[in-house]
Amino acid sequence: MTLNRRQALALLAAGIALPPGLAVAARPGVTLKEAAGRKGLRIGNAMAGGPNRFENPAYRALTARECHAIVCENATKWTTLQPRPGVFDFKAADAIFAWARKEGLKRRGHTLVWQEDRWAPSWLVNYDFGAQPGREAERILSDHITTVTRHFGDDLYSWDVMNEAVDPATGELRESVLTRRLGGPVAQIDMCFRLARANVPRAQLVYNDFMGPEAGATKHRASVLRLLEALKSKGTPIDALGMQSHIGPWSDLEAKGGKAPFREWRKFLDEVTGMGYKLVISEFDVSDKALPGDIARRDAGVAARAKDYLDVTLSYRQVTDLFMWGLSDNANWLRSQKSMAMREHGMPSRTTAFDDELAPKPMYEAMIAAFREMPPRG
Ligand code: XIL
Repeated sequence: MTLNRRQALALLAAGIALPPGLAVAARPGVTLKEAAGRKGLRIGNAMAGGPNRFENPAYRALTARECHAIVCENATKWTTLQPRPGVFDFKAADAIFAWARKEGLKRRGHTLVWQEDRWAPSWLVNYDFGAQPGREAERILSDHITTVTRHFGDDLYSWDVMNEAVDPATGELRESVLTRRLGGPVAQIDMCFRLARANVPRAQLVYNDFMGPEAGATKHRASVLRLLEALKSKGTPIDALGMQSHIGPWSDLEAKGGKAPFREWRKFLDEVTGMGYKLVISEFDVSDKALPGDIARRDAGVAARAKDYLDVTLSYRQVTDLFMWGLSDNANWLRSQKSMAMREHGMPSRTTAFDDELAPKPMYEAMIAAFREMPPRG
């Protein structure tokens, strides 16, 4: 049962306690889009095909109501766009973007290259680069980036050009089927950004990665800083760092002080912004893996983590965009990720701002509160 705000207030006024979860199921008085928009922050959602997502009219309507923008969750990845050498397929992405355009939603691209071979198309990983492997690798990379960016042109205001170039375990830059033939990761990454800038000079170009505030990500953060510095000294055209923000569980931080201290995270963001880069929260969701099974406590834990993270991160005015990786729990990738979703209790994960019925959860209220408290964007 869902009460509207007036009914919930009437019950509260009559001294009747609302069962946990019910009060926040009341339809919110303000949307994420309105609350964030007042401060100049753009809100977005990742859209993908499927019955709980693009094929559900209510979910599409929710996205249009709550967001300024969308990104394709999978439809603009290399594996989808160029499934076989030289064969491009824009059908899925074009359909999502056409709907978004009709709704007046802005559109961004993710991701021209996903560095780890595991996420590259298998044809590319197994490719025979022939007698002049460097030239052939350059031709393939250039063909992909040029064809894709030209297809979408100025329709997309922002692109993740490179995704996850750092190996978080070692802190080294990942080698891939392309880096090995193009003079190493820094040279190859530089090449990707230059190709993108040449073809879509007006688009914001983003380096996207999942380094977070937790102590376990120390090497990852340090490596991303080294990469951004190396690219800056080469004059690589990068505009922003994408912080994926698949946050929690921060067991290491929480064990120390109850609340995540975020000291290292601030230092990291100070360094990135000190180099002149903008920031994008590109894939926001909150793992409930280490939280109690009880739904009210779990939702409260997810909301608290979201608020802690957003309070610190959004205190940087350089954060211009916040994209959620799915708006409802059943439209979020963690639901099917055995290793990251909350599986211990055998219960479905609750990792986003809206529940499976598309009713707002405590995380929604936490986001609204964070937007009210953050400084306006420049
Ligand atoms: C994920 C999608 O959500 C899944 O549907 C897909 O199976 C795998 O990729 N980091 C990223 C995103 O940059 O592209 C990933 O998206 C999630 C982690």
